[in-house]
Amino acid sequence: MHRPVLRPLSRRSALLLGGLGAAATAAGGAGLWWSLATRSSSRTAPVTGAELSQPSELRSSGGRLEVRLEAGPGQFQLAGQQVRTLGYNGGIPGPTLRLRPGDLLNVRLANNLDQATNLHVHGLHVSPEGSGDNVFVMVNPGAVHEYEYRLPADHPPGVYWYHPHHHGTVADQIFAGLFGAIIVEDPEPIAVSAERVLVVSDTTLDGAGNVARVSQMERMLGREGEIVLVNGQSNPGFTAVAGTRERWRIINACVARYLSLRLDGQQLQLLGMDSGRYRTPSDVEELFLAPGNRADLLVTTAAGSAVLRAAYYDRGTMAGMMGQGPGPRQTSQPGAAAAALATLRVAGSAAPSTSSSPSPLVPSPSPQAPLPAVPEPDDLRTAAVAAHRQLTLSSGAGMGMGMGGGMMGFTINGREFSPARTDTTVAAGSVEEWTLTNPSPMDHPFHLHVWRMQVVEEGGRAPDRPEWRDVVNVPAQGRVKVRVAFKDFAGRSVYHCHILDHEDLGMMGVIEVR
Ligand code: C2O
Ligand code: CU
Ligand code: CU
Repeated sequence: MHRPVLRPLSRRSALLLGGLGAAATAAGGAGLWWSLATRSSSRTAPVTGAELSQPSELRSSGGRLEVRLEAGPGQFQLAGQQVRTLGYNGGIPGPTLRLRPGDLLNVRLANNLDQATNLHVHGLHVSPEGSGDNVFVMVNPGAVHEYEYRLPADHPPGVYWYHPHHHGTVADQIFAGLFGAIIVEDPEPIAVSAERVLVVSDTTLDGAGNVARVSQMERMLGREGEIVLVNGQSNPGFTAVAGTRERWRIINACVARYLSLRLDGQQLQLLGMDSGRYRTPSDVEELFLAPGNRADLLVTTAAGSAVLRAAYYDRGTMAGMMGQGPGPRQTSQPGAAAAALATLRVAGSAAPSTSSSPSPLVPSPSPQAPLPAVPEPDDLRTAAVAAHRQLTLSSGAGMGMGMGGGMMGFTINGREFSPARTDTTVAAGSVEEWTLTNPSPMDHPFHLHVWRMQVVEEGGRAPDRPEWRDVVNVPAQGRVKVRVAFKDFAGRSVYHCHILDHEDLGMMGVIEVR
């Protein structure tokens, strides 16, 4: 079956940008309109329906994992085609790294690209200094860098991921295929019939076997690829047996696309988001993952076929009040059919599956088998707060440096990222409360490295259980309050918008804990 998963961008003829400010207004009406170069309609449609594959897996043993990651160009299997693009170790996604709390992870990153890169272990609670999770390190073409990450013995279990973090090319390198999953195992395993890693990404192919270039406009909006992929595949299928329990680790590795996921007809329980586990899992029907978020999910299967779908989510527009047409700024449009990400076929019989699905970790557990208890999650709602801070995420005209011709500025507290400047200094060991405000007309997913955030106010109300995230969506015109315990590590690191085009455009700040 050959059909585009999403409505192509070429349906849009023009884009209206709001808040262009005086320069555009002075240019006289015409300056308000941005023409989007009409794209070729001869793009290759993705090949859908193949059997879901799993990234290769590297597992620690004896408290250690040593990995060589080679970031390089090549021919990769993507959306069922051969595509000339970038990946780690010849695959998209790169290998899954499976760790345990207390492990030492050594990564030898070899840069075979023709541009600088580096490595970030998103969500891991590890030191940001030296050869740790240090995003200020730059690995030049041809160079090798030895990273070393020591996970604390009480590191939260969960789903994490790795990707490049060289400022200015993060979105391009992830869009090209440089990302992979990291899993930190539970202290006590959960009995499941299968465990699957589902890395969701999106990209656009140009019809000649390349990843399409994106325009400056798409960067400002946050690029959304025309096709949404799971483990590099377009709507792959997989099978399960009815009445069993599977564990799915879902990562939103899209540069800017929000995922509002459903799997109608199957029973979903959320074990955790981003980092750690809830004390008790909660039943969910819809799962909201901003760019960078992850879900740790239990799926109890019922006979039939079920499609994992991503519904349209309105993340706002850069157009201000001057609405013209259907808020044109995302590939996914209101009213568009939900994108089919993957198709699960559940056989009614208890006969073992003959598919190439992952080997059972524990044979045929009853879905009713109780879950092992997890340690009570920390709760900062009653903690003594040492400092309150305001962080304002802005995408507006005329702010920041070098803005000409209606270019938008992407800032935090009015400033664009500068690696030499420290924006926020925090006392090691203290708990702070940060109020994240977003006066702009589009959502910005806020991400803090190293130290996870507890959401204490969202949508004007307090969550009724500890909610830990390392990416927190701050809606357009909205506000979120988080608390952070700056424990275990000191050093310089960053926070930023995880619409990675916005990060590359400057929406990032430097934090120093000391
Ligand atoms: Cu996944 Cu600093 O990012
Ligand atoms: Cu990160
Ligand atoms: Cu943003």
